[in-house]
Amino acid sequence: MKQYDVRGKRVLITGASSGIGQQLSHCFAREGAVLFLGCHPGEKRVLADWAGELRACYGSTVSIFPVDLSTKSGPDRLYRQVVKRAKRLDVLVNNAGLMAYGNFHEIPMERQEVMLMVNLRAYSRLMHRALADMMSRGEGRILNVSSVSAFQPTAHHAVYGAAKAFIQSLSEAVDTEIAGSGVVVCTLNPSYTDTPLLRGEGFPRRIRWYRISGLNSPERIAEKGFRAFRRGRRIYIPGLRNALIHSFLPRILPRRLSNAIAYFVLKGA
Ligand SMILES: NC(=O)c1ccc[n+]([C@@H]2O[C@H](COP(=O)([O-])OP(=O)(O)OC[C@H]3O[C@@H](n4cnc5c(N)ncnc54)[C@H](OP(=O)(O)O)[C@@H]3O)[C@@H](O)[C@H]2O)c1
Repeated sequence: MKQYDVRGKRVLITGASSGIGQQLSHCFAREGAVLFLGCHPGEKRVLADWAGELRACYGSTVSIFPVDLSTKSGPDRLYRQVVKRAKRLDVLVNNAGLMAYGNFHEIPMERQEVMLMVNLRAYSRLMHRALADMMSRGEGRILNVSSVSAFQPTAHHAVYGAAKAFIQSLSEAVDTEIAGSGVVVCTLNPSYTDTPLLRGEGFPRRIRWYRISGLNSPERIAEKGFRAFRRGRRIYIPGLRNALIHSFLPRILPRRLSNAIAYFVLKGA
């Protein structure tokens, strides 16, 4: 199958200052893409250093855009700034995200709303703007970094999982609407990955799930996700065991049982 060639493509990646987004930017840079990297303003220094490494290593063209995606104007501002510099965007990688762990009623609603602004609203707005431009040209790719949490309710991080389920449903529905247009929407659905996302306030040092599936490295997830993206895989869950557990079991098990298992394995160990 013909692979999508990213050489010379203009690629926006949000949340590129750490974790999966940073490693995805490494893959795109290595293959010759022109990069437009977003980060939280607090991480501007970190991202500037990372951009420097990519330039030194691959001679890449990299611009950075520190914009807070939890604000109302953030996603539109980021998109405007990038398009002004890039002239056109070939690939959007929606990746910036955060996590809040605990019982829904015990996590301050303000924190959950920030999560919704970034994990749900910013994804949707950036996707809406990019898609309109891509559809008018009949070419483009959107990669939404979703999660295995998209496939079943996730007790202990209920809003996080619900936001991922929203993005999953949106991505699949939109990709179906635009089939044959030259524009493609894909998702990357990793299981737990060793990044700062899992080291935030309230997240246990270990959860029982790690005993079943371990903890992925962001390098490996990005590498596999990047390959799947180039092959045009619409939904990609890295790892056969994860694919079986997350795409198959929730469909055959009674829902209450599936939810109870998720509650058990996502609990602190
Ligand atoms: N780690 C996992 O287990 C896992 C599993 C499945 C899916 N995912 C998904 O993978 C994506 C990347 O997460 P990660 O694990 O790589 O975590 P990460 O290393 O914490 O990266 C998240 C990125 O998003 C940025 N971000 C957070 N809030 C932002 C805001 N308000 N405005 C702009 N940027 C903001 C972060 O910047 P700061 O560093 O400044 O906060 C960081 O660069 C997320 O969508 C996550 O849901 C992660």
